[in-house]
Amino acid sequence: MQRHKGSVALVTGAASGIGRATAIRLAQEGASVMLCDVNMSGLEETLSLMPPSARVQCQELDVTNIDSCQQAVAQCMIDFGRLDVLCNIAGISLCRNLADITAEEWQRIVAINLNGVFYMCQAAMPHLVETRGNIVNMASTAGLEGLAYNAGYCATKGAVVMLSKSLAMEFSGKGVRVNAVCPGAVETPLSAKFEMPEGADPALLGRMFPLLEMSQPEEIAAAVAYLASQEARFVTGVAFAIDGGQTAG
Ligand code: NAI
Repeated sequence: MQRHKGSVALVTGAASGIGRATAIRLAQEGASVMLCDVNMSGLEETLSLMPPSARVQCQELDVTNIDSCQQAVAQCMIDFGRLDVLCNIAGISLCRNLADITAEEWQRIVAINLNGVFYMCQAAMPHLVETRGNIVNMASTAGLEGLAYNAGYCATKGAVVMLSKSLAMEFSGKGVRVNAVCPGAVETPLSAKFEMPEGADPALLGRMFPLLEMSQPEEIAAAVAYLASQEARFVTGVAFAIDGGQTAG
């Protein structure tokens, strides 16, 4: 399948997990890919896993810094001359009792999970208008329903869903599509670090566990590759859950 032949994609969070799988999938489908992450050694590893024929560049990016976001998009224009697809996948989790969340932790999760998505969308949009391109933002089922002990994660992922819908509306007349993907549990370094907070009631976390087993990053990447392709020409403003039925009931 070469749905992305000739297009250029910028992927944040490309050093690990879902971002890495997405970068590889888009390259397999013919895209040139700008791999962006704060973790440069992880990016090097992703680079080594890319299809040998792929046109790929690595760019250090801290999504909490607006200048860094603008620089990543500008570098993509220098290296590839265009931008067709922006995948905002960088993110962190924070599972804590409300009382234990520090102001620094709150600000950090907002800075990475929400501000970073906004900065990247703002920096990329003029170029996406040029190519009638599209954005795929990585939200979560935690952006669709409440998840105990995840105030910061739920708040930021819910905001990413609504940011995506707002931009889908604002840019519908300009041919730019904006969608959000909402995975349930995916087997990545992020989910491997999951720890129940002290004194937590496991029953309250019950809905976090899907009907099926955990999904793999490649399964989320497949959905991103579809949403970012011309096959999804009529799909914009959706929050696409991939969760083994977690949010079905
Ligand atoms: P991961 O931890 O494997 O990868 C996240 C990547 O984001 C890392 O490479 C990290 O270096 C990068 N990152 C963190 N802070 C950054 C910053 N300031 N600037 C640039 N890059 C930064 O995590 P995973 O699981 O691949 O998660 C990717 C996205 O998917 C996240 O937004 C996460 O919230 C979301 N997600 C993950 C689920 C899961 O179960 N793993 C479920 C639902 C959503």
